[in-house]
Amino acid sequence: MIFTDSFVYMPELNTPRLRLRRLTMRDAADIYHYSRDAEVARHVLWDAHRSISDSRDYLRYMLRRYRSHEPASWGIEWRQTGEIIGTIGFMWIQSDNSAAEVGYSLSRDFWNRGIMTEALKAVIDHGFMGMNLNRIEAQHETTNPASGAVMRKCGMRHEGTLRQRLYNKGRYVDVELYAILRSEYSSRTY
Ligand SMILES: CC(C)(COP(=O)(O)OP(=O)(O)OC[C@H]1O[C@@H](n2cnc3c(N)ncnc32)[C@H](O)[C@@H]1OP(=O)(O)O)[C@@H](O)C(=O)NCCC(=O)NCCS
Repeated sequence: MIFTDSFVYMPELNTPRLRLRRLTMRDAADIYHYSRDAEVARHVLWDAHRSISDSRDYLRYMLRRYRSHEPASWGIEWRQTGEIIGTIGFMWIQSDNSAAEVGYSLSRDFWNRGIMTEALKAVIDHGFMGMNLNRIEAQHETTNPASGAVMRKCGMRHEGTLRQRLYNKGRYVDVELYAILRSEYSSRTY
């Protein structure tokens, strides 16, 4: 049985450079700073924010999910400055199968410094240790190989290509499916 209580609580997760915490309305300017970037939005299912009111709408949506105990995202805070530089969280959680899917995005200013790998490892730790999940999935568009690199660095294994799995920004896109199982996590070497 999985422990959704600890998810509902969404504990703060700390890593050497990051603090994963619940978002608040005060984060709107930070979210807008990177979410208006079309490059950040290219391979995710949301559109680049056109104004800070889009960022506020996103935050209100996330706060509603916290309140109703639905799967939601942590804000990724850069400890050095306290700024929110991205988000990571569970898209869905299935109690019956003890499974969940994780998704994430990061400000372009911070790409290629191992930051999402650090954040994803913390969420995977929480998924297996805190929530007692058995399987954690993630998927990325085939044309977004950096995300696949993050998944592999976190011990996730490629399971296949889902052809035209998603309709994103005007076209059907192929998606790569990854997952890590509890048994693999227990014998991880990283
Ligand atoms: C994808 C994303 C999360 C990666 O975050 P990040 O913090 O830069 O990731 P890391 O630095 O931990 O690792 C990135 C890896 O991708 C590799 N990489 C970067 N660009 C690449 C490319 N074009 N092709 C192949 N690999 C690439 C890097 O070399 C690095 O691997 P390495 O450590 O083995 O060298 C970030 O770019 C992002 O948020 N993009 C926009 C939103 C998004 O795409 N979210 C994911 C949706 S599935």
